[in-house]
Amino acid sequence: MCGITAHVGSDEAVEDLLTGLENLEYRGYDSAGVAVKNGVGIDVCKRQGEISKLKERIRGEVDGGGNVGIGHTRWSTHGPPTDENAHPHTDCTGDVAVVHNGIIENYEGLKRELERDGHEFDSDTDTEVVPHLVEAYRDEGLSPEAAFRRTVGRLEGSYAVAMVVEGVDGVYATRNGSPLVLGVADDRRYLASDAPAFLKFTDRVVYLEDGDVVALEPGDHRITDLDGNPVERPPETVDWVAEDAEKGGYDHYMLKEIHEQPTALAQTLQGRIGGGQGADGASPPAGNDAVELEEFPPGAFGGVESVQFVACGTSYHAALYATRVLASRGVEASAYRAGEYATSPAPIGDGTLVVAVTQSGETADTLESLRVANEQGARTLAVTNVVGSTAARESDDALFIRAGPEIGVAATKTFSSQVATLTLLGERIVRDLTGLASEGVGDLLDSLAALGGNVQRVVDESRAQAVAETYADRPSYFFIGRDVGYPVALEGALKFKEITYEHAEGFAAGELKHGPLALVTEETPVFAVFTGRHDGKTLSNVEQVQARGAPVIAVASEDHDAALDVADETLTYPEAAPEAAAVLANVQLQLVSYHVAKGLDRAIDKPRNLAKSVTVE
Ligand code: M6R
Repeated sequence: MCGITAHVGSDEAVEDLLTGLENLEYRGYDSAGVAVKNGVGIDVCKRQGEISKLKERIRGEVDGGGNVGIGHTRWSTHGPPTDENAHPHTDCTGDVAVVHNGIIENYEGLKRELERDGHEFDSDTDTEVVPHLVEAYRDEGLSPEAAFRRTVGRLEGSYAVAMVVEGVDGVYATRNGSPLVLGVADDRRYLASDAPAFLKFTDRVVYLEDGDVVALEPGDHRITDLDGNPVERPPETVDWVAEDAEKGGYDHYMLKEIHEQPTALAQTLQGRIGGGQGADGASPPAGNDAVELEEFPPGAFGGVESVQFVACGTSYHAALYATRVLASRGVEASAYRAGEYATSPAPIGDGTLVVAVTQSGETADTLESLRVANEQGARTLAVTNVVGSTAARESDDALFIRAGPEIGVAATKTFSSQVATLTLLGERIVRDLTGLASEGVGDLLDSLAALGGNVQRVVDESRAQAVAETYADRPSYFFIGRDVGYPVALEGALKFKEITYEHAEGFAAGELKHGPLALVTEETPVFAVFTGRHDGKTLSNVEQVQARGAPVIAVASEDHDAALDVADETLTYPEAAPEAAAVLANVQLQLVSYHVAKGLDRAIDKPRNLAKSVTVE
């Protein structure tokens, strides 16, 4: 976790670093800090808490005219969130300052060695060994760059590290297992854990690779390997724009991103259905059953006999959804929680495709699973939102969900785009295996093509706020569903607990009677997801909870009289094929969570203890 950033070039280092940190705050918000060169030394300012707290103090502590600096926003791993543990960390002299994202696994041994040599440490962090090692190597007579390289050579674990050092008008940085991108503007250079940090200043990006060492100077940069050999990495232009990563008048990023789902889905589907390009921002045309994944021509998945999905959190729910889509079309598919798969991998055969589903492409558990699958010789595919992410680079192939940047810690639009992408992938696999389109695919693709418009209707007409007000302040909330409605029930509960801090659980509807029903009382609102498939059985489960006095909120198609008549409250969506209905039902549940959390005055975009990108195992 954590976000790091660096600026070299203009006299606005402080402003640019703060902008970058605000755009990276989704990666962690336990503390924040900057180190800026002021011409005679290095000013460091760091504070426990969010970046707003840092901003309150920074004017008095940092020279506003500096042109070189580094910044950090922290999600704590080693040591509590205090001022002392906030980054940047410095050496004994204050001439070296370092920010770091990742975990230095051998820091205890290095720290003992440095303490024996007289170095004094101020924090509990693993990171602080880095500036002290650089100091030690400089004392031995090495240049700052050589000392940095020697230090990096001693580190084990995952890291993206950036350093400023007295006497050098620039920044040194490197990465190993943690993301780091370089932004290239005419007279300035930026570094960040994620490109949105500097999109306001430049859209020209270099995705650095593990082992790259980059030296930034005003208007220039050099990339080398650890041994100093030059490495060529031409900049690419990213097509995300700065406004995508701003709140645009909404109270919260989460609400903005819920509202962005029609656009995100149009981007996801553009050119992939019906062989045609949808107009800008519009859904692709309906009525043609071609599926075109530009990256994968027909036959690309011909040898696939089974699919194993690995993912975490919301992405796991999208993966679970994909198993239902594939299994219903006769393809063997399973979804694994990546943290478990990494330690207990499933057997891999000749025709096994392992698909890592990850919005960020940087989730450590998912990457570890991917590496395990790669080691076992599986064919691997990343389904991700981030071009140039580690998952995309470490997989054999990548399929992009094209949802645009998502800043709210709670995943919303990316779930919808993942589900749409995975549905198309499922159809592509079926066609490659059987030579035929799957049964009923015309209706499914028509529903997908209409999904953006239908999501818009749900967002415009939703009664979620009223439902949230009616059922606020209950001890526990249940979410039930079956088939493609089951992942939606799990996702509804995850979103609810994540941003409201209230207890919520998702269940396969049929599983309730095998234990959880014991917890159901008249104080347990039950959200029942109906998708138009196997709904009769879910109706029986609804009756079972109602018999225990629980209020039921049916999330169902607007013409589903049976579900709507029996429920105490309803949240409806336009009629759609079950796979698309699941997405529409999920949008209603996103809105319920949002409004309950808002009523409770929770930190919706930055829920406590969490971060957007979980880069530790
Ligand atoms: O970037 P990823 O999709 O790999 O992230 C996986 C989870 O950490 C993420 O989906 C998390 O569960 C969300 N914050 C939930 O809203």
